Parts: sequence; C-alpha cells; structure tokens
Amino acid sequence: MSIPTPEKYISDFEQLGFGMFVHWGLYSQLGKGEWIWNIAKMDGEEYCRLKDSFTAEDFNAEELVLTAKKAGCKYITLTTRHHEGFSLYDTCGLSDFDAPHSPAKRDLIREFVDACRRHDIVPFFYHTTLDWHHPDFNGDFDSYLEYLRQSVEILCKNYGKIGGLWFDGNWSKPDADWKEEELYATIRKYQPEAMIINNTGLSARGKIGREEIDAVTFENGQAEPMNREGMKKYVSAEMCHTINDHWGYGSGDINYKSPRELIESLCNCRKVGANYLLNIGPEGQGKVNAYQRELLLLIGRWMDVFGEAVYNGRPYSAKTDGKSFILKSVDGKNLYIFAFDLGTAGDSNVIVDGRPVGNYIFDGVKEKLSSIEWMDNGEKLDFFQDQEKLRINMTKYPYGTSYIVRVAKAQVE
Ligand code: GLC
Repeated sequence: MSIPTPEKYISDFEQLGFGMFVHWGLYSQLGKGEWIWNIAKMDGEEYCRLKDSFTAEDFNAEELVLTAKKAGCKYITLTTRHHEGFSLYDTCGLSDFDAPHSPAKRDLIREFVDACRRHDIVPFFYHTTLDWHHPDFNGDFDSYLEYLRQSVEILCKNYGKIGGLWFDGNWSKPDADWKEEELYATIRKYQPEAMIINNTGLSARGKIGREEIDAVTFENGQAEPMNREGMKKYVSAEMCHTINDHWGYGSGDINYKSPRELIESLCNCRKVGANYLLNIGPEGQGKVNAYQRELLLLIGRWMDVFGEAVYNGRPYSAKTDGKSFILKSVDGKNLYIFAFDLGTAGDSNVIVDGRPVGNYIFDGVKEKLSSIEWMDNGEKLDFFQDQEKLRINMTKYPYGTSYIVRVAKAQVE
C-alpha cells in the first residue's frame, strides 16, 4: 500500500508549523470561559445582553498579529463565531447578533484579516457549528444548516484568500445529518485552497470525519503519528492547546502552562508532523493580558533561535531512548536533532545534579553526516557514525542559558 502525496495547500499548511488560536466573544466579558452560558445554565436573554456592553475598545488587531508574529506563529485561528452564536464579523443582514450591531459597531474580522495581511500571517477562521442562540438549532435543523452555510459563505466571499476554516461542534449531534458536503462545496467554490478542519473533540482525537477534511485535530491531547498507508488523500494533523485550563478568558484561572510545557508540546507535535495551535483568551473588550503575552514572547525567543527546525523539520525514522528525536529538513539536506533535558554546564557550586555530558545514541540514521552544530551558538559537536548508529556528544547549555529543548543542525554529506 502506498502513502498519498499531499496537495500543495496541505503541505503549505504543514510548513506553517505553529499557529495561535484565539477564543474571544461575548463570554470573554464574564471571564469564566466560553462555555459559561451552558455550564451555569444562564438565562438566555440575560446572556444576550452581553452584546450591549461589548465595545471591543481594547481590541487591537495589529497588536494581536504582531504578538503572534513575535511568538513565531505563522497563522492565527480566530473564533469568528463560537457556540454562543455571536459573530465577530458582519453577517450582512443574516442576523443582528453580530459585532456591527453591538456598541463596537465594527467588523472585527475585517480588522483581523487586514492586520494578518500586513504582516504575512495566514488568517484562519474558527466557526462553530453548534449554536446555543439560533432557535432552529434545536428546531428546524435544515433551516439552521442553511443559516450556517450562508454564514460561512459570507466568510469565504468577503475577506479575500484565507488559510482555512476550523469547524467545531458536530460532535454535539453525532447522529444528525450535518449536510457537510454542501457546506464544504460552498467553501471550495470561493476558497479552493482553504484547509477544511472539523474538530472531532476530546472523545475522538485524531479521527478523520469525512474525506473532505484536510487535517485531523488532537484537542488538548498528544498528537500521534499518522498512518497514511492506503489513505485516499494525504491528511495533515494539528494539536490545539489551552495556555491555561480554558479557551475563552478565565479571570480566575491562573493555571498557566510553563514555558517548558509549551515548548516541549510544540516540539512533540513537530516530531510527528503535526502543527501546534496554541490558544490565548483575550479579556472582555479584546485585551491580551500581560501573562499570556509574555508566555508567547518567551516562545518567540526560542523560535528566533530554533524556528527553522520547527518549520522545515519533518518526521524522521531514527530512534533513541528518552524524549529526544530527529527531524529531517524538507529538502533532505539537514537533520535537526532535538535534545531534551540537557542541563546547564557549571561546577558543583552552582549545579545541583552534575550529570555527565551526554552521549546521545540514535538508531536508524541512514544519511552520512559531515558536521553537527548547535543552532544557538554554532558550537560544533563531536559525533561518530557506524552503519545506522549515530552517537553524538551533546554538550550542556553554556552557563547562563537554558533553552528547554536545544536543537543541533546536521549537514547531510
Ligand atoms: C471544544 C469546545 C470549545 C473550544 C474547542 C477548541 O470542542 O467546545 O469551547 O472552542 O474545543 O478546541
């Protein structure tokens, strides 16, 4: 059995590697996550009044995009409409439950897309399929689906070329006929090269729903290697991750992930060829709080040094004990060796656990290598190859630095 080659737009998506997810909607004003209407069984009318206080006065698309860019993200997936049913875009008369009909009086998606274009960031649209606001969602479902289709048509027609659509909510009615072929045909008509993603949720991570789908999702999970043998078409993968324990802003949630957890997650996604989509939840009127921003900027410092390996590295067959792994560059000229848990160099006055400098052994390296060096300081590493075994003397971080995961670049002879 053979492995299909990816369509160009799918391999382009894989090349993006790292994206920023943004959950922002009316719920953000409550600071209790994006599910609060449902979880707290809030009164619908009361909830919808959040529209009247939605000014979006702190939303600055330019800043949002620049933060993503500094973090090393190549794309941003923004919630154009979440389960609450409120649209950040101009629904062109389909509904008045949208940003232009709120005190914000702006098409926030237009601002977002324009800022992305200015800074070479690819815009992606998250769009809910589950809708707590639309009366037909639990009534005349076919007419709801037509509303959904027309909503998506607006997004595909009015904002120029987009990277893709990221749907979420089909899991809420697993037995319903969602008429996906009609929805996807509408997308293809205007956006033939848009990625179509439809989140399979927590209970079906990595599953391919339908054949139109271009990437599977691993919501808050661990991306797994894709077995593409015998697949009709090449499907890519993406893992989305909360920065703390909520997607939408949670003012009481201080359980932020550490830089270590985030950077290791990013690396582990790339190990299996998946993209990493890291979420932030702006506050009620659109402000990204300092802590979330700082975390992104820290990742950006790592990406400044090692980003090339994230974008260009693809899964590679070599095996080793522990967490370290190797990726191979798209053009085949380089290997990227990702080393975990190296430790910092120093003497016994400063280093608690003076683990000896490491000989890392990888098995299954067919390429003959001419040199290996750390990407952060260019230090050449001693190595030895015997058939498919590669032994590298991985030196520790120079005193004063610690990058969590350190990447060495090898030249293939
Ligand atoms: C979900 C949740 C949702 C969130 C999404 C992100 O399925 O319902 O609130 O937007 O996952 O992956």
